Amino acid sequence: MNIPLLHRLREAGGDFIEVPGLGPDLDELQAFGFAIERHPLLGAAYRGPAARLCPDQVEWELGTVVVGRRVAVWNRVGSTNDLAAKAAASLANDGLVILAEEQTAGRGSRGRTWTAPPGSSLLMSVLLFPPPGLQDPAWLTALAAVAVAEVVARAGGGRLDARIKWPNDVRVDGRKVAGILVERGRGTVLGIGLNVNLDVDQFPGPLRQSATSLRGLLGRPLDRSELARDLIRSLDSHYVHALASGPDPLGGRYNGLSEHVGREVDVETATGTVGGRLRELDLRRGLTLGSGDGETRAVAIGDVASIANRPPSGPGG
Ligand code: BTN
Repeated sequence: MNIPLLHRLREAGGDFIEVPGLGPDLDELQAFGFAIERHPLLGAAYRGPAARLCPDQVEWELGTVVVGRRVAVWNRVGSTNDLAAKAAASLANDGLVILAEEQTAGRGSRGRTWTAPPGSSLLMSVLLFPPPGLQDPAWLTALAAVAVAEVVARAGGGRLDARIKWPNDVRVDGRKVAGILVERGRGTVLGIGLNVNLDVDQFPGPLRQSATSLRGLLGRPLDRSELARDLIRSLDSHYVHALASGPDPLGGRYNGLSEHVGREVDVETATGTVGGRLRELDLRRGLTLGSGDGETRAVAIGDVASIANRPPSGPGG
């Protein structure tokens, strides 16, 4: 497929461009599903993305170092995480990205299922073989969460305040737009589900209050292939940076995107609940909580079961 032509059309922002001799290439793009208007004198104009994921568009000039070295797009799978885990039999699959239009056995965290109407969302798994210093699943979850939050913010063009809710949710205005499931076997699989082109009433009943999608937030459908491309690039850039500089630099970015840092929180641990203002969330060492009397308290990262923001207290409360 002529993806450079597709990009020229997209970049013209809906204006007609001249496309002499490229009729067959336009036919092919239209046959795939891209909406293109043609005019005998003016040429062609981009009118919208294909409904299905376009592997060529995802991979075109991707320019990544590890994540996305290989990209596979499936129509229907059980779970993309399972496919990525199978691919771990070969070290040559380091950085493999698996995308699917539909999952029949999508997994969420804590044994839950993850469902999305076919063709509506980004269902992505990335296989990595991280070096010893980067193998901690909590850190890899944080890496994926940072990348997803950045992509959501960019997709919103400044309109969406994407925040990370510990440990694996990305939320906008307190509603979950994406979840992350990191699973370790021979390699490590980063599974990401991002709600894109679905309406709130397409969520299962209990999620209608707590979940949202990019289309729901922005009021327009989004190009999932471009989102996938942006997400792969974002994941790669944080991962490659960590390969060179270690896991710690991610912490600053994570804290800046956290829904909890700087807020009054309740931290649930195996031995009870600890409250205070969350000063810092160190992804390797743990939480630093401040109390009203100026004391600080540390909670080791492995002891954190959940973090909940306290509702802001009203006047006099
Ligand atoms: C969560 O519960 O928040 C985590 C959801 C993770 C869902 C994604 S979708 C792609 C990948 N494949 C799966 O089976 N699960 C993850």
